[in-house]
Amino acid sequence: MSSHPSLLIRHATILLPNGEFLVGDVLVSDRQIAQVAPEIPIPSGVREIDATGLTLLPGAIDPQVHFREPGLEHKEDLFTASCACAKGGVTSFLEMPNTRPLTTTQAALDDKLQRAAAKCVVNYGFFIGATPENLPDLLAANPACGIKIFMGSMHGQLLVDSDTALEHIFAQGKRLIAVHAEDQARINQRRQEFAGIHDPKIHSQIQDDVAALLATQQALGLAKKYQRRLHILHMSTALEAELLRQDKPSWVTAEVTPQHLLLNTSAYDKIGTWAQMNPPLRSPHDNEVLWQALLDGVIDFIATDHAPHTLEEKAQEYPNTPSGMPGVETSLPLMLTAAMQGRCTVAQVVNWMSTAVAKAYGIANKGAIAPGYDADLVLVDLNNYRPVVREELLTKCGWSPFEGWDLTGWAVYTIVGGEVVYEQGKVNTQVRGTALQFAQES
Ligand code: DOR
Repeated sequence: MSSHPSLLIRHATILLPNGEFLVGDVLVSDRQIAQVAPEIPIPSGVREIDATGLTLLPGAIDPQVHFREPGLEHKEDLFTASCACAKGGVTSFLEMPNTRPLTTTQAALDDKLQRAAAKCVVNYGFFIGATPENLPDLLAANPACGIKIFMGSMHGQLLVDSDTALEHIFAQGKRLIAVHAEDQARINQRRQEFAGIHDPKIHSQIQDDVAALLATQQALGLAKKYQRRLHILHMSTALEAELLRQDKPSWVTAEVTPQHLLLNTSAYDKIGTWAQMNPPLRSPHDNEVLWQALLDGVIDFIATDHAPHTLEEKAQEYPNTPSGMPGVETSLPLMLTAAMQGRCTVAQVVNWMSTAVAKAYGIANKGAIAPGYDADLVLVDLNNYRPVVREELLTKCGWSPFEGWDLTGWAVYTIVGGEVVYEQGKVNTQVRGTALQFAQES
């Protein structure tokens, strides 16, 4: 089969799989990376990007987002969210099942896949949501990146908080289980204790670090008992990080969000209910312990938990306000800014936001710049600082908890499957991503 070169990126500072940088060229052919070399002659009829001064990284894979379609499109939809991804250098996402209807059946999963194929400008994958009753759906769903269990912080069908129901799910099948680990019984009890308080700061006390620890301990116990592949979503506390540091089987992974690294309870004073999310923001001490756990490999990777709500919804009085904040447009610049400040390296950021995610979810050919890998790429400018500006955001919710933060590492070009989907401030809305496949035991 002959290959069809389509794009040549020239003079980029390329992050290689070994963590070193090469100033050189990357040739894209048939949606994949064909060649990486100091200098590649320009084939005829090929688009050329002069990337002098820009850094070429594998596109970010965001493994936890809530994109609201179907059913909650007044907050976000798959088109607007995927445009926000393209702007943020996020070339693939894994989306959560708390849409309407809930993604708890193959039919609901197929519906999401069809919607995404029609309108997503980046690549997509979806979780199947656990209920206390849908074990056959959990075992059969395909393609699903994993089973999502809300152990707490959710109501209705998606809440699985009984020991028996949890045990039942962990005991059967092999596919990855991702848990939102907060103990619902403790949350319920503390909600009563703190009832009548409208200061959103109380949210972090109601859903406290012990609530998170209890659920993480339970999930870890079940994962050990059944040797079940477990992923702990948005780990938020020093207590959980210390637990995992002592005792983390090889089949368990964990993630942290940029907001749990970079924001803490002092954010309530500045941005009020915008800071309200589940699991809640914690203390500066938790920030530090989570950073260290990430640096030490106790936490494996980063997810945004992009959870948009409208400004109107967020303007209500606590506790009537919904929890969650958007994140896909700011995650890569936030982390690259941290790298430029010396908190970590650019290579570590890429591992946490792409390579390690692809490995954990069994996504083949993504997460590295090397021949044979998919041409999902981002060219970032590490030398230019620009603030997060509300008017420039593409998420439908139209706000960010990081407004005003001066960040570097913004995407200048984002490339999905060899096609330029974002270029100097503009999304090419004609590009379509593809459905991710997951090589995991089912
Ligand atoms: O803050 C959150 N919001 N945490 C979640 O787990 C769900 C999310 C949402 O869907 O709004």
